[in-house]
Amino acid sequence: MQSSKPTSPARAAAPAAAGGAAQTVAIQGVTLALAHPQPFTGQWIGQEEVLTQLLACWLVTDKDDLPLTPRVLGVPGIGKTTLATAAGALRKQEVYIYQCTADTRPEDLLVTPVLAEKGTIAYHASPLVTAMIRGGACVLDEGNRMNEKSWASLAPLLDHRRFVESIIAGITVRAHPDFRCAVTMNEDDATYEIPDYILSRLQPTLKIGFPERADEMAILKYHLPFAAGQILDLTVDFLQQAHALRLDFSPRDGMNILKYAVKRLAQRKGHPLAEDKVWREAVERCLGEDALDLKALSEARQRNLGSEVPPLGLGDFFLRPDDPLNPDADEPPGPDDPDGDGRAERPRDDD
Ligand SMILES: Nc1ncnc2c1ncn2[C@@H]1O[C@H](COP(=O)(O)OP(=O)(O)OP(=O)(O)O)[C@@H](O)[C@H]1O
Ligand SMILES: [Mg+2]
Repeated sequence: MQSSKPTSPARAAAPAAAGGAAQTVAIQGVTLALAHPQPFTGQWIGQEEVLTQLLACWLVTDKDDLPLTPRVLGVPGIGKTTLATAAGALRKQEVYIYQCTADTRPEDLLVTPVLAEKGTIAYHASPLVTAMIRGGACVLDEGNRMNEKSWASLAPLLDHRRFVESIIAGITVRAHPDFRCAVTMNEDDATYEIPDYILSRLQPTLKIGFPERADEMAILKYHLPFAAGQILDLTVDFLQQAHALRLDFSPRDGMNILKYAVKRLAQRKGHPLAEDKVWREAVERCLGEDALDLKALSEARQRNLGSEVPPLGLGDFFLRPDDPLNPDADEPPGPDDPDGDGRAERPRDDD
C-alpha cells in the first residue's frame, strides 16, 4: 500500500497528442497512463454572458482564493458541453471530457487497473485525474446521470482539499493549481438525485437559454456552411417558434434537420425536389410528425402537464387543504395509513 500523503502537483512533459501513445506519470511510485485531451477547434457563438460567468468561476483572484466548479444546466443539445469546452480552450488549457453514466463507478472516475503485458497491471488515469495532474480543465458531462457513490469519491476534490484518493491504485492525487472543473446536467433527465452535500460543492448554477434568432442562424451557418437557402430559413423560423412556445428543440435538432434535408436534396440533382417538401420530411424524420404543428404540440404538452396537477375543489379556494372544515380536505391519516400518503402501509415481515 502506498502512502496516502498528497503528492505535489506534477505536469507531464508535453501535451498528449490525441490518438498518440499514452503518456505516463509516476505518483507515489505508481505509474499512471494519462488520458488524451479533447481537441477543440470550434467556438462559442452568442450568449456571451454565460461564457463570461463560467470564466469568472474559473478565475482565482487571490492567493487564498480557489476556483469554483459550476453546474451548467440546459436542455439536451443546447450547447452545455460546447460552452464548457470553449471556456477551457479560451483559457488555453487542455480540455478533458468525462462522460458520466448511471453505471460509472468511482474507479472509472479516478484510476482503472488494466491487464497489461506479461500479466502485469497498468493503471490508467481517467480524463478527470489526467486534467488534475496536467492542470487542464475537465468537463464532467451529464453529471446528473451518476450515482451517489461515484459523486462521493469526488467530494474532497470539489472543496478546498482538491484531491482524490484512488483505492485501487493506493494513491492520493492532488489537483494542479490550474485544474478547473465544470459539470453539465440536463434539467429534465435526472437519473439520480444528486445529494445535497455534492450539490453544495457544485456552485453556482449557470443556465443556458435558447439562442436568439441571429445567434441561432450563426450557429447553424458555422456548423453547416454548406446548408443555405429556404431550408436554412425554415429551420431557424422553426426553432425560434419552438423556443417561443417553450418546446425543448435545440440547435442540435436544427442541425440534424438541415443535414438530412441537404442530403435528400443532393440525391436528386437532375430533378430537384421542392425544398419545403424535403424540409417537412426532415422535420418529421428527425423530430416526429407532431413537430410539424408546433402550436398543437405545445398545447398538448400543456394539457399533459395540467393533468399531472390534482384538480382543486371549491373548498380549496377558501380553506387550507388540511383544514378540517375544508370539504375537499385530504383524508386524515387512518390506522392503515399512518403517514397520510393515501396508501395503506404494507405489512412488515416482523408484524
Ligand atoms: N452557442 C453555440 N455556439 C456554437 N455551437 C453551438 C452553440 N450552441 C449549440 N451549439 C452546437 O450544437 C450542438 C449541440 O451542442 P452540445 O453537444 O454542446 O449540447 P449539450 O447541451 O451538451 O447536449 P447534451 O445535453 O445532449 O449533452 C453542437 O454541435 C454544438 O457545437
Ligand atoms: Mg453535452
